[in-house]
Amino acid sequence: MADTTKRPIKITETILRDAHQSLIATRMTTEQMLPIVDKLDKVGYHSVECWGGATFDASLRFLKEDPWERLRKFRDGFKNTKLQMLFRGQNILGYRPYADDVVEYFVQKSIANGIDIIRIFDCLNDLRNLQTAVKAANKEKGHAQVALSYTLGDAYTLEYWTEIAKRIEDMGANSICIKDMAGLLLPYAATELISALKDATSLPIQLHTHYTSGVASMTYMKAVEAGVDVIDTAMSPFALGTSQPATEVMVETFKGTPYDTGFDSNLLDEIADYFRPIRDEALESGLLNPKNLGVNIKTLLYQVPGGMLSNLTSQLKDMHAEDKYYEVLEEVPKVRKDLGEPPLVTPSSQIVGTQAVMNVIQGERYKMVTKETKAVLSGEYGATVKPFDPEVQKKCIGDKEPITCRPADLLENELDKLESEMSQWKEQDEDVLSYALFPQVAVDFFKYREAQTTKVDPTVADNKNGAYPV
Ligand code: CO
Repeated sequence: MADTTKRPIKITETILRDAHQSLIATRMTTEQMLPIVDKLDKVGYHSVECWGGATFDASLRFLKEDPWERLRKFRDGFKNTKLQMLFRGQNILGYRPYADDVVEYFVQKSIANGIDIIRIFDCLNDLRNLQTAVKAANKEKGHAQVALSYTLGDAYTLEYWTEIAKRIEDMGANSICIKDMAGLLLPYAATELISALKDATSLPIQLHTHYTSGVASMTYMKAVEAGVDVIDTAMSPFALGTSQPATEVMVETFKGTPYDTGFDSNLLDEIADYFRPIRDEALESGLLNPKNLGVNIKTLLYQVPGGMLSNLTSQLKDMHAEDKYYEVLEEVPKVRKDLGEPPLVTPSSQIVGTQAVMNVIQGERYKMVTKETKAVLSGEYGATVKPFDPEVQKKCIGDKEPITCRPADLLENELDKLESEMSQWKEQDEDVLSYALFPQVAVDFFKYREAQTTKVDPTVADNKNGAYPV
């Protein structure tokens, strides 16, 4: 007899973060988001992902917005819903590894400004790169979710995933996410993976995928049947393609089943009505490329994320070497093997991709080697699931002794130094963190912010020296 126990599936809404990051280069503004917060807050989501990832960089760099201010406005508006962010382990939201004091302070300030759930991941799944952030979230009474970068390959067996899930439970995380950034998890593999994880750990399991390869909603269905606790979806105007499956579709799918979310379909419809003109505008301006809305089957055939495929295409185009595309695609898995078979997600995807291009263009493998490839082979990103190819390692870094410790153990605390570098711009405690992540971009923003204040402040409006360039 079928099991009819009610087990409503929980949903994390991604429209305020991943959905617009995936489809419109993270360009949705706070002004566009705020009017709909009240309705989103009434849906009953498990959480709304609204911060972290590229939103921080894009706010400062392109939108001239203070990301901390955005977060505080969300916190004011969302009275009932947990706010979630994406956090890149020791790299925080930036592109280099930070010392522990910066990681701890960033976590503390994220939670103080309104974040409830921090999803933390590492591109190598080296848990040592996550431990500082997890501990800091525990200390601040936030929810620490560890996300495993999902990938395929010889090393990535069910045993690998269940072993690492147990270690995540031991390290004090509150839940586990399978983060399938490339849309590689197929429906029946999801059944196996989720069942194995549910057997191996008592932590809640969340699944995050992208529609890139066209299988995502089927994968969710099988995952839900196998006992997954939470799925990530996006409201339909910014769903599908390189984004997530549509929220409304998943809600309708599970209606009347034991997994029924209980969400109000009319309310969801009103929310979709709000976002549709924003989508139309993005299509018209070219910000939303219809190409990103289709199925990219190459991502499954080559097990390479969609974003990485388009990067390779443009790198080769710049070098007038488009005819080498398939050669490079075949080189990618070889480089990945040489480098210890890492998942392909920022930044490992760029490192492997660029090295593969060089190997093909130079006509000799590892004749030219990027400094990032050398850093990986020196252990500076952490431990990989498989050993490096010893010959490749020797050719790239010579007799240099690779490090085997947690990379951040070699970094001195740096908060004081950062504080002193940027003190002239400081208007709030959080500014030092913006500066730590994106020094130049943050200073440009601070200058802009100062000019704005000067413009509207009547006490300095007559100041003849106050003509800051805006
Ligand atoms: Co994602």
